[in-house]
Amino acid sequence: MAIEVKPILERFGAEVSGVDISRPLDAATAQEIVAIQNRWGVTVWRDTGLDDASHVAFTRIFGDVIHAPPLKDGPRFSQPELFDASNIDRQGNIVDDEKRRITNRGNRLWHIDSSFMEVRAAQSLLLCHEAPPHSAPTWFADARSAYDDLPAPMKDRIEGLEARHCYFWSRRKAGYPYTEEEIDAFQHATHPLVHVHRGSGRKMLYIGAHARDIVGMDRDEGRELLDELTAWVTQPQYTFSTDYRAGDMTIWDNLACLHRAGDFDETLYRRDMRRTTIRDPQSPGEPGDVVQDMFRPAREVAAG
Ligand SMILES: [Fe+2]
Repeated sequence: MAIEVKPILERFGAEVSGVDISRPLDAATAQEIVAIQNRWGVTVWRDTGLDDASHVAFTRIFGDVIHAPPLKDGPRFSQPELFDASNIDRQGNIVDDEKRRITNRGNRLWHIDSSFMEVRAAQSLLLCHEAPPHSAPTWFADARSAYDDLPAPMKDRIEGLEARHCYFWSRRKAGYPYTEEEIDAFQHATHPLVHVHRGSGRKMLYIGAHARDIVGMDRDEGRELLDELTAWVTQPQYTFSTDYRAGDMTIWDNLACLHRAGDFDETLYRRDMRRTTIRDPQSPGEPGDVVQDMFRPAREVAAG
């Protein structure tokens, strides 16, 4: 059966079917899926039949898989590649503490996964194991088409600029009472504002909630510019949302789009989502690298 691709927006997002991704794929099929992903930026897969092991195995068709940071009370899964994006603990109870609520609020801001890391994330593969009975969607925004449509003077203005990204900046926006000085002490990563997406050759706006300042620009002016660009990318013509039932998966390319979690009552309903993440092949790093440097003070990171 041929792979079927049903576009969601004209230039962005597609629902893909007609291939069983829970089994090992031949090279031609894997290549075709990577090409579909590169073209559409976000793909939606229904009723995949994936479990933890086959989720990780399928992820490898896109490249090197990043390892998740170790959790204080231990992981819920045996694969170190799985990020826990749920609201439940190891016993299956809903976690309801202030820290988790702020983290979840932060995820509801438009962002790019791991943009606060020197090693950027490429594809994120989010698999639903359990969904609330009502909608708990993910939203996506087409940062390539939004770039294409920018007025020429804005393209000229932002070409060659860089932004500094910090995890704790987005947490402050989500309500955590960090001061600017406290955030200064944490690791930042600097990335070009305009990134060329390798899989399509198209330019995209590499921005989102972790982006704190523009390098060499007055702080207020830089933030105004970042806000203006985020408002541009997240206009309705560039965005869509997708819902999940158990077994559904979305794959988004962090080097092509922004995303955010949708609202749901996290104190009432269990939502078990597990994510794997591909390391941007243009960033430095090794297979099995762990996303954890964001928790280290800047001086420690500088010292290695
Ligand atoms: Fe995310």
